[in-house]
Amino acid sequence: MSTTFTIDTAASRATPTPTPAPMKRLTVPAIAGRKGGEPIVMLTAYTARMAQLLDPHCDMLLVGDSLGQVIYGLPSTLAVTLDMMCAHGAAVVRGSHHSVVVIDMPFGSYEASPEVAFASAARILAESGAAAVKLEGGAAMAPTVAFLSARGIPVCGHVGLTPQAVNALGGYGARGRSDAEAAKILADARAIADAGAFAIVVEGVVEPLAKEIVAAVGCPVIGIGASVDCDGQVLVTEDMLGLFDRTARFVKTYDDLAGRISAAVAGYAGEVRSRAFPGPEQLYQPKA
Ligand code: KIV
Repeated sequence: MSTTFTIDTAASRATPTPTPAPMKRLTVPAIAGRKGGEPIVMLTAYTARMAQLLDPHCDMLLVGDSLGQVIYGLPSTLAVTLDMMCAHGAAVVRGSHHSVVVIDMPFGSYEASPEVAFASAARILAESGAAAVKLEGGAAMAPTVAFLSARGIPVCGHVGLTPQAVNALGGYGARGRSDAEAAKILADARAIADAGAFAIVVEGVVEPLAKEIVAAVGCPVIGIGASVDCDGQVLVTEDMLGLFDRTARFVKTYDDLAGRISAAVAGYAGEVRSRAFPGPEQLYQPKA
């Protein structure tokens, strides 16, 4: 005799309240076709619930390796692992049904060779269900971008301030201030675009250089600390919501989440200590 257990998850907090008209998921070619068109809205997401909240407003959700700092309290992105990216990527795919989900390839998972990069990227896409990967680097990474793109793995590039190279760059300052550095970053963007990237994130570069890159490459350029003329913009969600007090100059804060969380938790703590919580509405009574 076998017993089948059926768990009703309809009332679970993991099941989002259905939206009135489910939106169709955008595709990588649709994003690539937005060059010079309607600006692409991209934000980072690392959890299913945040993905649910961001998804209706965004075109792309980036599971950034910035989760190392935002979620795990690491000092940089260097210790982020493939396991972390796969787990958070899968959560974001589960929490979204409209945006193209792009997952960062973590430091050490792709630089050694195109073959190593393919194995890592294939694992990320297979385990998460995401549509694309993002990797940092310029001309040196072009053969890898070409290798992945030719094998059905859409790649978003990332040039300029590339946080995984913090030790080589010497910090997180803006890039492209000298003519030589600007020329190198422009050449990097061109190389990645020519290799087949469907989009390129350009981070932390002087504005004239960002505009030059936008004009020079055929794929959409998504700016972060770059230029309003980019084909789209991306920010770390927790930064723009005001969860952290230390952010880069390029972050605009649209809320004060840290202040609001602190006020709410102070309210809860006060009510626990004064025995005002739980009240009658939160308690169960026997049936009359
Ligand atoms: O890891 C990340 O969140 C990023 C964005 C800042 C572009 O790469």
